[in-house]
Amino acid sequence: MDQATNLRKLAESNSNLRVLPSAKGPQTKIIAIASGKGGVGKTTLSVNLGISIARAGNKVLIFDGDLGLANINVLLGIIPKYNLYHVVKGHKSLKEIVIQTTEGVDIIAGASGYSQLANLNETQRNNLIKGFSELGHYDYMIIDTGAGISSNVIGLVMPAHEVLVITTPEPTAITDSYGLIKSIVSQTKEKNLKIIVNRARSAIEGKKVADRVIDISGQFLEVQVEPLGFIFQDDEVERSIREQKPYILNSPNCKASACLTRITHTLLHTEHKLDDDNNITGFFKKFFGFMDNSEREYEKRALGEGS
Ligand SMILES: Nc1ncnc2c1ncn2[C@@H]1O[C@H](COP(=O)(O)OP(=O)(O)OP(=O)(O)O)[C@@H](O)[C@H]1O
Ligand SMILES: [Mg+2]
Repeated sequence: MDQATNLRKLAESNSNLRVLPSAKGPQTKIIAIASGKGGVGKTTLSVNLGISIARAGNKVLIFDGDLGLANINVLLGIIPKYNLYHVVKGHKSLKEIVIQTTEGVDIIAGASGYSQLANLNETQRNNLIKGFSELGHYDYMIIDTGAGISSNVIGLVMPAHEVLVITTPEPTAITDSYGLIKSIVSQTKEKNLKIIVNRARSAIEGKKVADRVIDISGQFLEVQVEPLGFIFQDDEVERSIREQKPYILNSPNCKASACLTRITHTLLHTEHKLDDDNNITGFFKKFFGFMDNSEREYEKRALGEGS
């Protein structure tokens, strides 16, 4: 069987993978995409992976968690009239700002230039959580995070069921992906961490880079990072971005799409460790809890150091 036939079969079998209803009620699997270094492909992956998972028959919400520099909508050529800012300020309900795309995913656009999600008052937080409870069920929520290891990023990563750490083969990107893993591990060793190598020039390079991250994380942090595959460096990705169309739709037969299909397949076959509060409202409650805690920790340290 040639490679194209293999991939077509994989894509077809992906489309039979739906999230099964659970005894605990409707569950939402929450996947955070983070990197450490900027510009390595988080947003591109979030959009294309979201579409790929939706095409397998799942209801998917992409949340633009790159607070301050939101641009999920740019990749889809959408200019949203309203975003999270309008919800936080009470001008719109969350339901009113959700963008339903023809690609089969819903999107919550972030507010460029507005990064205050962590600093909302009690009423604003409750409004947001209530807004999420009114949205209806999603099988998956994908969170695109910003670059770096700020508490905003770690706060969005901590309550997720899966964290996809993305790097490129550049040494600086590898170092920063390790830095991100270290920050996560300093909070908990219980996270499901997976590594994706983007812009690999060969399968061998993709594997080598993933092995490097896995090895150093195992050796120095005693944490098991799982390989989730690689995505080829591919001009079609850049062309699709220029054309504001996701490459999985614009160039379904390109090398990057083939890799993404494989990654989707592996991800949809992954058993997620789910706890009792597996929905989007639970996720945001945990996010706010984490932010409060890290603020208190910071104050304690600052006061301790000052005295
Ligand atoms: N597989 C790929 N092949 C070729 N180019 C790619 C690939 N993936 C990403 N790129 C290029 O990298 C650029 C940055 O991608 P993207 O915006 O997704 O990164 P990011 O990690 O979200 O950046 P930021 O940290 O600024 O949010 C894209 O505009 C595209 O040109
Ligand atoms: Mg981005």
